[in-house]
Amino acid sequence: MLLRRVEKRGSVDMLTPREHWSSRSGFILAAAGSAVGLGNIWKFPYLAGKHGGAAFLITYLALAFTIGLSVMLCEFIIGRAARKDPIGAFAKLKGGLWPIVGFMGIAAAFVILSFYSVVGGWTLAYIIKMLTGALDNGSAQELGKMFSNFIEDPIRPLFFHGAFMILTISVVVGGIGKGIERWCKILLPALFVIILILLARSLTLPGAMKGIEYFLQPDFSKLDAAAFNAALSQAFFSLSIGMGAMITYGSYLDRKMHLPSATVWTTSLDTSIAFLAGLVILPAVFAFGFDPKAGPGLTFITLPAVFADMPGGAVFAPMFFVLLAIAALTSAVSLLEVVVTYLVDEKNLTRKTAAWLSGSIMFFIGIPASLSLGVWKEYTLFGKGFFDLLDYLSSNLLLPLGGIFIALFVGWFFSEKALEEATANNQHSFPFAQVWMFICRFIAPLAITWILVSGL
Ligand code: PHE
Repeated sequence: MLLRRVEKRGSVDMLTPREHWSSRSGFILAAAGSAVGLGNIWKFPYLAGKHGGAAFLITYLALAFTIGLSVMLCEFIIGRAARKDPIGAFAKLKGGLWPIVGFMGIAAAFVILSFYSVVGGWTLAYIIKMLTGALDNGSAQELGKMFSNFIEDPIRPLFFHGAFMILTISVVVGGIGKGIERWCKILLPALFVIILILLARSLTLPGAMKGIEYFLQPDFSKLDAAAFNAALSQAFFSLSIGMGAMITYGSYLDRKMHLPSATVWTTSLDTSIAFLAGLVILPAVFAFGFDPKAGPGLTFITLPAVFADMPGGAVFAPMFFVLLAIAALTSAVSLLEVVVTYLVDEKNLTRKTAAWLSGSIMFFIGIPASLSLGVWKEYTLFGKGFFDLLDYLSSNLLLPLGGIFIALFVGWFFSEKALEEATANNQHSFPFAQVWMFICRFIAPLAITWILVSGL
């Protein structure tokens, strides 16, 4: 038993124990910390706004709780069974071509964190804006202009993008338990509370009712292939699955944890924060007369207007953006951790070198992404700017594709061991085991393929 916890590490052929999460709640909070991020508060509301509100919400929830949850469980299992980075895990458990799935994950981490850090930088900038009283003289429309002026600036967003990346690197250098677990324990409860406060204001704004209807009354005629595709991509992005982040986090687990319940917890926390964010933002969008299809700026335009219009807004606004920045940070950390765990496990780099090296590369890829929203707007490929291209490539292609292979792997090539892993050798009950296996073998691969193909 003890030997299982022991791994070969570093260039010295020495036996050192692999770090692991300090407790069950610590692990769940860290996994939820990875899942809850800009995907919930920045991306989900504008996607719901763009793709028809309630119909999108229901599709997203349905996909998250079937395919999403199943793939997440697969990832935890692969990670814990192998106790390795995604590439090493597939190599150790099966070999053959399977490590390619891990490589795709590492590639996805580079693609995602490059643009994610740009948006993470926006949250940092907004903390300062909110502290220095940008709300005081802002009408809703002016606050909207403030956002576009900021992201289109060639210099300022890059500065904050760099700052966000340095923060991410610093947490990752600190290591798995200490850095990540501690932050998540404070973050999630605080985030819940402030979202509830915002909810109270948003829902009582005059004109909010239209937004509530938009978000909660489904009109399934709006559900086209593009909306379906967006809902699936969002489920993957928001749950941090399809690229090995949860394999990586699972690799730092000890054997006792009941993985199916951890999966349900993580999925529920993540989707409920997305749901609440939508319920804050869409009613406010309608109340202030913004366009729900406004796109990536929606959260950054709408929320300042809500804060400007509420008692104590000047206090809550910076507080909210601090929490959003931390939520983004705990997700960014899990993205960087995928690459760093790989470089440490397989390439014998130190944690510090690995984090600075990969983080710097991501920073440089992020520069053209940021510029593509402003001065380089006219340069497009397939009709998309570089920022949108990175987003599309990762969420709509790499993650779902990764999900197909992860589900196939567990369903067809690792099923017996996976069931043992899920129940810790029959110590725990797992009543949905057969349903889960069926999803992994058939539903997930077929449904994802179908949605991907129809979205093209
Ligand atoms: N789930 C994170 C969010 O919603 C983003 C993320 C995607 C993190 C993939 C890790 C892996 O913000």
